Amino acid sequence: MIVAPCESVPQQKPQPCIMTLFGATGDLTRRKLIPALFSLHTQDLLPEPFIIVAYARKQKDNDIFRTEMLEAINEFADIGAVPMDKWRSFASNTYYHQAELGDADGYHSLRTLLAELNKRYGVCGNHLYYLATPPDYFSTIIKNLRDSGLTHAEPPNSGWNRIMIEKPFGRDLGSAHELNELLKTAFQENDIFRVDHYLGKETVQNILVMRFANHLFELLWNHLYIDHIQITVAETLGMEGRGAYFDKAGICRDIIQNHALQILTLIAMEPPISLNPNHIRDEKVKVLRSIRPFRKDELSENTVRAQYVSDGTNPGYSQEPGVHAGSQSETYASLRFYVDNWRWSGVPFYVRAGKRLPSRVTEVSIQLKAAPDVLFARMDCMNIHPNRIVFRIQPNEGVEIYVSAKEPEMGMSVKPVRMRFDYSEEFGRAIPDAYERLILNAMQGDTSLFARDDEVEEAWKLLQPVLEGWSESNTPPCNYRIGEWGPANSDALLAKDGRRWWNR
Ligand code: BG6
Repeated sequence: MIVAPCESVPQQKPQPCIMTLFGATGDLTRRKLIPALFSLHTQDLLPEPFIIVAYARKQKDNDIFRTEMLEAINEFADIGAVPMDKWRSFASNTYYHQAELGDADGYHSLRTLLAELNKRYGVCGNHLYYLATPPDYFSTIIKNLRDSGLTHAEPPNSGWNRIMIEKPFGRDLGSAHELNELLKTAFQENDIFRVDHYLGKETVQNILVMRFANHLFELLWNHLYIDHIQITVAETLGMEGRGAYFDKAGICRDIIQNHALQILTLIAMEPPISLNPNHIRDEKVKVLRSIRPFRKDELSENTVRAQYVSDGTNPGYSQEPGVHAGSQSETYASLRFYVDNWRWSGVPFYVRAGKRLPSRVTEVSIQLKAAPDVLFARMDCMNIHPNRIVFRIQPNEGVEIYVSAKEPEMGMSVKPVRMRFDYSEEFGRAIPDAYERLILNAMQGDTSLFARDDEVEEAWKLLQPVLEGWSESNTPPCNYRIGEWGPANSDALLAKDGRRWWNR
């Protein structure tokens, strides 16, 4: 496949703004947010001026915080040696604000600080708040921002107030709805940016381009030609110190409700009438509404949940720090979805996600129906497989198409071969980190890559019977050994339909 690189559309710089980071001493800030912001700064993509206010409760001052952030950049930013002139200009616009997250005074003093910074730098009241704290603090922060007047534009400034809020967005339908209602008391929907970092990945965005900029795929994209679709989000890592958080969530909340369903909707959606964020999100919501609801009494036929156990060397899930004794939280899940609309009638979407699997791979595999077997398939020594289109989300980002081809020899022997488009080979540069794109889009007020309120709630609504059914069940999750592709039941989920997982 040939994808010709073209001139990229120049990025317009966002308007000057101040970004207040809640959870500024946390892992996400260190590993992702500060490295992403600094990388944007080195590419001259940040607004001018741009100021960071780091809000956290630990005692430290500007200098200590800046030094820690430089360490984080050295460790996690994918930019080679840190250009020190760039670092100095970045650091001098970064301020540490020490206060408790639940303390109203902390927000009043934040307001004073923001007013001062606005005046000093001429930012015109544009404020972006980033909630990178554990989810238990989201409501407290939103209420305090609202009650201290930090979410309203005030004369003489007529700037915007936007909020980026990390996942998990709620832990079920009720809590997600409550959070949405609370957000509405402080912000307009267009100023709310619910982060699902998968939407910031180039390869996830590429699904839309591949589908709607090419006739090749769209003509096949329906139940007449597609046999089934597999979505895999596999990780080799286990808890990595996140046991306490994960134990309250499980993989269905952690990955399937957001990342996997986002991918599913992009694969299944109808062409939007334009690239306007709301037109795209309208189509995604329609997909979620078309998915056949799960019934609690049929969960064993349509879902599998499991926990990893030790491989003899590494600890199993139940031995991970932070995991409570007898925990039933699943570290692996597979589900069979049906999108009951005209296009997808009868096509199963098999979705699986798991920790401690044999390889790290996120991909979508679209298996076409077999070609009519009137010619080659009837001959011996023909190895004909139905075509398969694979979107490699990560790693080795690209698109692969599996077709049958004649082997070069005198006889007639057919073999499956792979055509491949590889991002790094084709474009010769590193793929930007998802957070860079997301932060920039939020500063520009572009909500396309963020989940809308109804989208998040539809996704919860869909999974609610699954989560309830599992927690009410007397049958514990089944087991798989670290390094296996999930439990045997998950293979059986496809085998009973005459299919199998494509493992890497
Ligand atoms: C996060 C989950 O949202 O995504 C983690 O909370 C998971 O459990 C991570 O490890 C995976 O992200 P990526 O970008 O490494 O695939």
